[in-house]
Amino acid sequence: MSAGKYAVFGHPIAHSLSPQIHQAFAKQFGLEVDYRTIDAAPEAFEAAVRAFFADGGHGANVTLPHKTAAFALADERSEAAQRAGSANVLTRLPDGRIAAHNTDGDGMVRDLTDRHQLDLRGHDALLLGAGGAAHGVAWSLLDAGVNTLTIVNRTPEAADALADAIGDPARAHTRYWEDLDDLGSFDLIVNATSAGVLGKSLNLPFGFVGVRATCYDLSYGKSAADFLGWARAANARYVVDGLGMLVETAADAFELWHGKRPDTEPVYQTLRRQYG
Ligand code: ATR
Repeated sequence: MSAGKYAVFGHPIAHSLSPQIHQAFAKQFGLEVDYRTIDAAPEAFEAAVRAFFADGGHGANVTLPHKTAAFALADERSEAAQRAGSANVLTRLPDGRIAAHNTDGDGMVRDLTDRHQLDLRGHDALLLGAGGAAHGVAWSLLDAGVNTLTIVNRTPEAADALADAIGDPARAHTRYWEDLDDLGSFDLIVNATSAGVLGKSLNLPFGFVGVRATCYDLSYGKSAADFLGWARAANARYVVDGLGMLVETAADAFELWHGKRPDTEPVYQTLRRQYG
């Protein structure tokens, strides 16, 4: 049964795993899905999205660097998208308007709590970075029950802006990057910077990795290698990359579009064998 036209937009996009993930989900239900990658430079993104939907597209995933632009062009925005100020899912509504949603935060929390069996309640969490990726996960970490969320960013103003947007000073607050060694220890450390993607090392101190700490990088593959290597050297209890998050966020988009919840575990295991 044909289930329509879908795509992932990014720049670059050639190595995206989204087509493989969505095809694997579709197979679980015997659906035939036309899911392609569309490489659009930032200045061409909005026109490419509109052309895709005008041409019968049903839904689109959106990745770097277009998540903010995807949010901006939509006619309707979910609460998760509004909080993050960005969207990773666009859906064509029956009347032709475009709805934006963000599944990043829920996908990450589900990866941690369901796949890795971590109960985040009561955790003191450290969020490294205050850009788009950090905005995507911050609220979901608080919703999952972390006790405190300390936001640290190279440029402190961006961390302050995120904490202000959250507006829960008793739980979410900022500290300076230079003071990382003096902040005590954390139970959960999330790397939401793009340093790894840019091929840069974060040069983090070991001091803030608590005895049973989980270190989580939102990216995977080469981009996550530096942070994960640091986390292992710091003796973190759990060291997790963003591969599971990617599969979970895709599952949310799939369910939104097809009304069916795919089994993420076999798809995750196949990708894990590919990525080590
Ligand atoms: P993304 O959508 O991947 O989050 P972004 O919105 O450009 O991309 O945000 C990138 C984040 O990574 C920012 O928090 C950035 O810090 P600044 O606000 O100071 O720019 C952070 N970042 C990027 N390179 C970094 C580096 N080498 N060291 C520390 N933080 C870095």
